[in-house]
Amino acid sequence: MRKTIVCVVGTRPEAIKMAPVILAIHNDGNFDVKVLATGQHADMLDSVLNFFNITPDTNLHVMKNCQGLEYITSSVLTLTSDYLKKVNPAAVLVHGDTTTTFAAALAAFYLKIPVGHVEAGLRSFTLSQPFPEELNRVLVDKFAKWAFAPTVLSKQNLIEEKFPVSNIVVTGNTVIDALLCAVQRIKKPEIDVFNRLSDDKPFVLLTAHRRESWGKPLEHICQAVAFLLENYSDLNFLVPMHKNPIVREVFYKYFTNEERVVLCEPLEYPDFVWAMKNSLFIMSDSGGVQEEVTAIKKPLLILRSVTERPEAIENGTGILTGTDEDKIIYFSRKLLDDKIYYDSVVAKCALMPFGDGTASQKIVEVLKESLCD
Ligand code: UD1
Ligand code: UDP
Repeated sequence: MRKTIVCVVGTRPEAIKMAPVILAIHNDGNFDVKVLATGQHADMLDSVLNFFNITPDTNLHVMKNCQGLEYITSSVLTLTSDYLKKVNPAAVLVHGDTTTTFAAALAAFYLKIPVGHVEAGLRSFTLSQPFPEELNRVLVDKFAKWAFAPTVLSKQNLIEEKFPVSNIVVTGNTVIDALLCAVQRIKKPEIDVFNRLSDDKPFVLLTAHRRESWGKPLEHICQAVAFLLENYSDLNFLVPMHKNPIVREVFYKYFTNEERVVLCEPLEYPDFVWAMKNSLFIMSDSGGVQEEVTAIKKPLLILRSVTERPEAIENGTGILTGTDEDKIIYFSRKLLDDKIYYDSVVAKCALMPFGDGTASQKIVEVLKESLCD
């Protein structure tokens, strides 16, 4: 009988990065793959799963408005444990660093079910940034059986923490697998919001949602955008807003009546890929976007003061600005005014530090080697 592997997803980025893994296990045919959606995100999770044609075996629907970390942790831990007791899988795969990731992995660990950590070994070495994600990924790597490290650097981080070397595999990041799949299907989205961006005027794509940026830091980002709007009369901004009301409140406060800022709902994944490809440059505090721009080759101002993805700066188009208004303005102006600088940022991206789109297949091979007779 085929063994069962449970893949857990809770939020938008987990779904994007776990989708190719789920599909690769399914297509390989050696395992019965079940998808457990915790529903930490509601709308934003469903949209991604629909795009990849993935139907969860179960959705725990834990999301509440403005949910606290203790609520997500305790509900995901308890409900995932109940689910795993029924399904009794041979392994559980979790992705990355969200509260779903940590709580679901812990549920598996308590039941002595081996855990595979996809995107293991990323470290900012600062527990407060990103918060609480840095703690989540460190904790999962304390008890995971397999570490699927996206880069050599993440493998090195794990070795330094004494993770058993034989169980670390450098796979590349599965986001590149997802991106290559989305790129084949992108087109200019036929939704009203894009009609407001005229073809001849450049736009900057902006996303921000991190917990440590709530409040003042997010206001500083908006103030930098306001300055740029005032000084560049042709410039537009496209801002797909995270669903979190705490984040939206700030964007609405600054830009509700600003014609050249398009505030919109989160974009479907292929629409967002179109927006990245067609933007002049990107400003974001997202983790996944730092990886994606290395393949899309667009400059990215990273709206964080530290990153667990230094590869995005060394071999990618990332520029670390934090949420400092002056720094955001300074680097935006360089990108807008200095073509040689802009081209030099893009040219740094000759290498693909996050892999070539074969990460999911490498993960399947490890699982087969470990679990199939
Ligand atoms: C979560 C992850 C973060 C990840 C991000 C991706 C944690 C602690 N944080 O942060 O690592 O980068 O997802 O986007 O795991 N909401 C909706 N509909 C949705 C999704 C969210 O209304 O589809 C609202 C709800 O009010 C919810 C709030 O957003 O309570 C915050 O969601 P939550 O998952 O707690 O935090 P994120 O900031 O999304
Ligand atoms: N993304 C999307 N629609 C949007 C904004 C982002 O599909 O409107 C994708 C983006 O391409 C990336 C992922 O969502 O793959 C990043 O998610 P997010 O920024 O929410 O989380 P993080 O990566 O910071 O954990």
